[in-house]
Parts: sequence; C-alpha cells; structure tokens
Amino acid sequence: MASARLDKTLVTLTAPSSFAAEQYQGLRLKCEQHRRASDVRVMAITSPGAGDGKTMTSINLAGALALREAGDIGRILCWLTLPVDVDDASLARAVEADVDITAYTPERVDDIIAVGGSPRIQLKVDTGLSRGGSTLGHWPDLVAAARKAEIDGTIEVTGIWSHFACADEPEHLANDRQERAFREALDIADRVGLRPEVRHLANSAASILRPSSHFDLVRCGIAVYGLDPAPGHTGHVALRPAMTVRADLALSKRIAAGDGVSYGHTWVADHDTTVGVVPAGYGEGIPRHAANTAEVYAAGRRRPVRGRICMDQFVIDLDDDELEPGTDVVLFGTGAHGEPTAQDWAEACDTINYEIVTRIGGRFARRYVDSAPLDSAPLDSAPLDSAQGDDQ
Ligand SMILES: Cc1ncc(COP(=O)(O)O)c(C=O)c1O
Repeated sequence: MASARLDKTLVTLTAPSSFAAEQYQGLRLKCEQHRRASDVRVMAITSPGAGDGKTMTSINLAGALALREAGDIGRILCWLTLPVDVDDASLARAVEADVDITAYTPERVDDIIAVGGSPRIQLKVDTGLSRGGSTLGHWPDLVAAARKAEIDGTIEVTGIWSHFACADEPEHLANDRQERAFREALDIADRVGLRPEVRHLANSAASILRPSSHFDLVRCGIAVYGLDPAPGHTGHVALRPAMTVRADLALSKRIAAGDGVSYGHTWVADHDTTVGVVPAGYGEGIPRHAANTAEVYAAGRRRPVRGRICMDQFVIDLDDDELEPGTDVVLFGTGAHGEPTAQDWAEACDTINYEIVTRIGGRFARRYVDSAPLDSAPLDSAPLDSAQGDDQ
C-alpha cells in the first residue's frame, strides 16, 4: 500500500521570502527498513495540513480528499468520519476518489453503501485505547453487517485494524492485552468469512519494538519524521530526523547588564551581551514553554532562547557575536551539524517530539526536498543550506 510511494522523499518547508524552511530528508528511512526486512507493508501517517502527495492516510475525509487533490494517486485510508461527512456528501466524494473509509458501526457501513459506487471500507476495533473503533461487544454485529454487504456486492472490506495505547512503553501490560484482543477480533471476522487485504495494529513504536504486532502493515507516523517514538527503548534503531526548521535572523543588537528581555522580563542579562531576534513565535507553533530553555543554532554555535516566546518572534543570546540580519538560524534539524533536534526541543519544553514537529505552521512555508537514494552518501553529509532547494 505504501512503501513504494516512499521512494521520493521530501520535504523542506520555506516561508515567504526565505523566512524559514523545514526539511524532511530521510522521510522514508524507517519505512524502507521495514520493507526490506519483511513483507510487512508500511503506511505513512500524515498530519492535517502536511499533505505532500506522497503519504498514505489521513485523519478525516477532508484531509483525504485534500491529499487526492494534491495529486496523491496511492491508497489513502481515512480513519475517522464525522457526522458532517454524511451530510455534505464528503462520503460520496471519498468513494469516488478511491479512498478506503474506516467504519466503526453498522450504521456507518450503511451510510457508505448508500452513496453507491464501489466503496472500499476498513473496520476498526477498539482493543483498549478507548478512542475510535467498535467495542469488542459490538464487533460481531459490525463484521456481520460488513460481510453481508460484501456478499451483496455493495462494498469491499479491505482491512481490519486497531491502535495501541502504550506501545512506547514496551513493558506495559496493555500491549499484550490489546494484541490478544486484536487476534480475537480477527478470529471473529474470519468466522463470518471476512478475508481483508490488510490487518494492522502497530504504530511507530510497535513497528520497532513489537514484531508480533506487525501483521500485514504497520502505520508509522513519528518514525517517518525520523524521530524516536519511544526514547530510551529504541537505542538499536538509527533514525535520522527528517525535518529542519529555520528562519532568517531579523536583527542583532547589544544590551547592557541588568536589561530585561521580552515580555515579563523573565530573563535579565547579568552581563553586557548581544541579543538576536528570530522572526517566529507561538503563532508559528513555537512553544511558549521554550522560554529560557530551548536553544537554536546560528553561525556555528548553539544559542539559548532568552525570555518569553512572543506571538511572532523570540530572542536569542548571541554573546559577543553581532550577527548580520539574514543570518541563517536553525531552530531544529538533524543534529548532524550541532543544531538541536526536535527531541531536544521536546525535552526543553517538557513535551513529546510529536508535538514539536506537528505544531509548526503559521508563516512557515513548507518546502519538500527529495532525499538521496538510501544506498548513496549519508544524508547527514548534506550541508545545512541544502534545505534551500527549489520552492514547490
Ligand atoms: C490510528 C493511528 N495510527 C498510527 C498513528 C501513528 O503513530 P506514531 O506516530 O506513534 O507512529 C497514529 C498517530 O496519530 C494514529 O492515531
């Protein structure tokens, strides 16, 4: 379903007037490793707004349709439908656009049948996350309804799937419980005659840490960004961050000992120093929690964030370096050149790397850079400014 589509990866994000960029070199790395290691297929998970024409799934029908409109010709799974999708004919458009649609209830199966065409559906069972999906109690009714529709020729059931709650904690007892429940759900489906093309349960962490949960396909989100889904547990896997966020320094200037910096003066210089202004703030998804904790990279060195993050800018300490406006500031990247990684930012902000990379937006523009073939020179050898590739 997915891996073949990861041979061209991606992404650099550039803001208007080269304000900033984001680079996803190596997006396919983990997926490719899986594909080579076994028969398991890989589905890349995209977050809303990150559609790039090369990914395989989307949270809702609007996102799925946006991926199609962006030119994605691969299989796309929509995992969550909303009441509005039935009302505004999105279901019908999704069937026409060849999107696989997940159903949690017999009623949604009926909604999908009602739009006509040749719908492909997948069934989701809740094995213990208590989020989307049919409870095990309702599962027999759902598979019976889907099988009946399949026999009638009104739908094709292409998948059965579920999602882990604690895959990033490999010792957590919920993992065994969920996998057992998934196998039970598959048996129930099998007994009514459903033979789906794909059965899938594993996210990034389980794809690395729990081979027994791979079934036919793994759904990788954060690992596709080259980030560690379970820090502390995955030391044996070489993931390479795929996304770089950068901005042009707006200005630098000297301040004196005793001067307070940014709103609230939460940082006060204890000696004369030079500060620089980076033109990105919480409006661009820079966490306010980065105040006085995170670092960026500019002119060959890490530079600490000083004071609060503002709506559209923040201040860094340049020490005695008066850098020219326009100097490249890397907020986070691969780490290969000394720049912080998204994981570093996550630790500085007391959150997870997922939140750091998915919240970047606002005036940042995305630019997608094809990465080198896996067998060629390591991507780490690419200069930082290789992110200045062609705008999309
Ligand atoms: C249903 C589902 N599958 C897979 C994923 C991917 O998870 P991860 O990023 O941990 O690989 C997510 C994450 O949002 C998800 O909600």
